[in-house]
Amino acid sequence: MSNMAGQVALVTGGARGIGLAISQRLIRRGMNVAVGYSRDDAAADRLRQEHPEVTITLHQGNIAKADDCARVVDEVLETHGRVDVLVNNAGVTVDKTARRMTAEEWDHVIHINLNGAFYMSSGVVQGMLDRGSGRIINISSVIGEKGNIGQANYASAKAGLFGLTKSLALETARKGITVNAVAPGFIETEMVKAVPAEILAGIVEQIPLSRLGTPDEVARVVEFLADPESGYITGAVYSINGGLYM
Ligand code: NAI
Repeated sequence: MSNMAGQVALVTGGARGIGLAISQRLIRRGMNVAVGYSRDDAAADRLRQEHPEVTITLHQGNIAKADDCARVVDEVLETHGRVDVLVNNAGVTVDKTARRMTAEEWDHVIHINLNGAFYMSSGVVQGMLDRGSGRIINISSVIGEKGNIGQANYASAKAGLFGLTKSLALETARKGITVNAVAPGFIETEMVKAVPAEILAGIVEQIPLSRLGTPDEVARVVEFLADPESGYITGAVYSINGGLYM
């Protein structure tokens, strides 16, 4: 039996793209999974139907809103009793050069990618402290490590996640909780499919491994960090980018 069987994971944006691959890997380890989603309810419901062997619950909410996050955490605690693993995965991009970017476009991306991770983490961390165990994994990006033209809002939010990861790691380490970040490069999901083909071809040319990554290649690192046996890794950033940034 898996050493994660019966544990509870909360995965934001867990019904699509990288989040879906993470949910699937944790489900395969026997975890019960609370899936946060904003609009993709059909995908979330499909995931539940496909895995009757574990308890999967669906929680709709806008992660940019502190009240929604508090409600989602309450719902999850009511249903599952606890959260052993939180994966802050939900994210969006709104690309424009800083010169043209509006304050709303800046705020929107910061609120979802950075504030959302803070709201969810602060919602679950007390329970983890009380139990003396827990895993928080933040999905950042290579863009947070190296910056990018047209992505000042996204790069700032994703770089901000490194600060959140390391500070929370320090604040919780004595209680056996680990907090880590993964920084994917360009991964084949809806987010990357939105990039025009000729721009994408140019990006692939710059990737030493000469291809995009898959959602499962990110999910397997998240699964590794979520494992109870990975308890000596905290405050770390795992780059998964095909060598794009070293
Ligand atoms: P996606 O667009 O397929 O999925 C994003 C998820 O976030 C969706 O499930 C959506 O429901 C959720 N979401 C968006 N706004 C939300 C809101 N306001 N409230 C609640 N949930 C919301 O994107 P993908 O590619 O799977 O990305 C997942 C994470 O990985 C994001 O944080 C993204 O920034 C990050 N990432 C993605 C990369 C890629 O190449 N696809 C590269 C590096 C990082």
